[in-house]
Amino acid sequence: MRAVVVTQNEDSPSVALQEFDQTSLEGEVLIAVAWSTINFKDAMVTQARNRVARRSPLIGGVDLAGRVVSDSTGSLNVGDEVIVHGHGLGVANHGGFAEFARVPAEWVVPLPDGLSLRESMIAGTAGFTAMASFIRLTSLGITPSSGPILVTGASGGVGSTAVALLGHAGFDVVASTGKSDESAYLLSLGAREVIGREDIDDAPQKTFGTERWAGAIDCVGGATLHSILRSLRYGGVVAASGLTGGSQLETTVYPFIVRGVSLLGIDAVEMPSDQRRAIWETFSVAMPKDILDSIVDLEIGLREVPSQLERVAHGAVRGRILIDATKDEV
Ligand SMILES: NC(=O)c1ccc[n+]([C@@H]2O[C@H](COP(=O)([O-])OP(=O)(O)OC[C@H]3O[C@@H](n4cnc5c(N)ncnc54)[C@H](OP(=O)(O)O)[C@@H]3O)[C@@H](O)[C@H]2O)c1
Repeated sequence: MRAVVVTQNEDSPSVALQEFDQTSLEGEVLIAVAWSTINFKDAMVTQARNRVARRSPLIGGVDLAGRVVSDSTGSLNVGDEVIVHGHGLGVANHGGFAEFARVPAEWVVPLPDGLSLRESMIAGTAGFTAMASFIRLTSLGITPSSGPILVTGASGGVGSTAVALLGHAGFDVVASTGKSDESAYLLSLGAREVIGREDIDDAPQKTFGTERWAGAIDCVGGATLHSILRSLRYGGVVAASGLTGGSQLETTVYPFIVRGVSLLGIDAVEMPSDQRRAIWETFSVAMPKDILDSIVDLEIGLREVPSQLERVAHGAVRGRILIDATKDEV
């Protein structure tokens, strides 16, 4: 079969589309991959001295959607449409950038009603993470009448989907982006206002910024997350999932003990199966399909994956890059 293989070298990893022996895959369920997508983590796997990849050579791809070919546990039927993401997919186990994949049966999520395989991978891990963030935020009582909700890294996968989910649900969404030319895109997804990366808080020399945000969905981390904590309103909530702006968080306890704000951690990797299935079911209903389609930046075959991984690594992508694993390429 054809697969995009990442090999860790002394200096920088190599990434190439090549023939791969399908019989060397391990796992109970064999899946014919229909669609995959590129996530920020896929780009991290290709960076020098990364601490993400846990095998080499490795077929990349932290998520996939396809049809079951065989299942040695007998719990799935041939032809069942399924989604797989998280766990060790694309980091410790061979992933979705291939024509076939093998995974443990417990990793497999049935495709929810109302969602196609293609749509599930427009969302992929990023869209799933946005949905998980939305659910956690609203579970703490944040509603459309609470006030403005900030979304950071708004033009990326998590950010675009979060803007769309919140906007469609009637929230007052403020999208923060480093791409000034993507304002029209973010407004079309459902943002009420678009601001720059530096405009999240004010008065950086003071202990607090102005109370602005009732809630936030943050996938940037680092100094951005600190800025959000300083500028959440009393009782505000931020759901934090990412680190595109840095993994170090330097902040103070004041937002927590003076303004009673909450910092919620979002993990899509080790989440238990029952929660994972419930989130996909909710996503299928909550996400308008026409808006989901407008999040696609590019639709490519496996051949173009190596060059597109570079773009993702540099934060240059708007929305999602969808991979058609069945695309005929010469
Ligand atoms: N916790 C989990 O389980 C989980 C699951 C999925 C993703 N994640 C993480 O969430 C983050 C976003 O993932 P994604 O798939 O949405 O990535 P993505 O599509 O590549 O988007 C990332 C966005 O972050 C912004 N950005 C890039 N570099 C930045 C910088 N130096 N400073 C500030 N903002 C920067 C850019 O948006 P703008 O130009 O619009 O600002 C970029 O489009 C990643 O760190 C990823 O690892 C975590």
